[in-house]
Amino acid sequence: MSTSLWRQHILPFSVLLGLLGLAALAGDALLHRFNLVWIGRYLGIPGTILIIGSLVYSLRKRKYLHSGSPKTLLQFHELTAWLGSLLVLLHAGVHFNAILPWLATLAMGVNVISGLVGKMLLDRSRRHVQSQREHFQLRGLSRPEVEQAVFWDAVTLDAMARWRKVHIPIFIVFAVLALGHIFSVFLFWGWI
Ligand code: HEM
Repeated sequence: MSTSLWRQHILPFSVLLGLLGLAALAGDALLHRFNLVWIGRYLGIPGTILIIGSLVYSLRKRKYLHSGSPKTLLQFHELTAWLGSLLVLLHAGVHFNAILPWLATLAMGVNVISGLVGKMLLDRSRRHVQSQREHFQLRGLSRPEVEQAVFWDAVTLDAMARWRKVHIPIFIVFAVLALGHIFSVFLFWGWI
């Protein structure tokens, strides 16, 4: 059980998060090494576009879009949000001039982590409750008895499922901060 918990959940979580950090550090080092830091300044744009693109999944889930497999779109959401965050991290680099974009980056980080934790925890708890149910059914318990036996686990699972309720408000904080940053940059560039 503890090996499967480690291998199936904690390891992929750490790998995905660790890769994000490592790729950001390596990319930033390369940009500095080849004097291409100015490119990083523009990576905010494709990063933002990817993150906006990742929201197609949310539109599909809330039935604003009627086509597309939700499972494929969820994978697309995870991939584009991860890649977009990487580009934004490269864009942020190791420059500290302004507080607002750093707050946006912090919110983005919490958002990515809450998404990853939610994905891993939810998956794990679902399987756990399912295997408990099967275990009790095999022991010959009746349906109400099985439900009684997994009651607290099911309640916990329900609590896990609420992770989205954290993921979404954090996303809104992130979006407001990022928009503030983008608005002020565009104003400075004379684009608006
Ligand atoms: C259309 C998208 C974006 C554009 C055009 C843009 C543009 C810029 C520019 C021009 C700077 C340099 C400011 C300076 O040198 O003082 C900057 C810095 C920064 N941006 Fe963005 N950005 C975008 C999206 C984002 C997003 C989505 C985030 C975070 C979630 C972000 C986080 C940062 C950070 C952390 C810095 C460094 C601030 C500092 O030097 O202290 N940017 N951005």
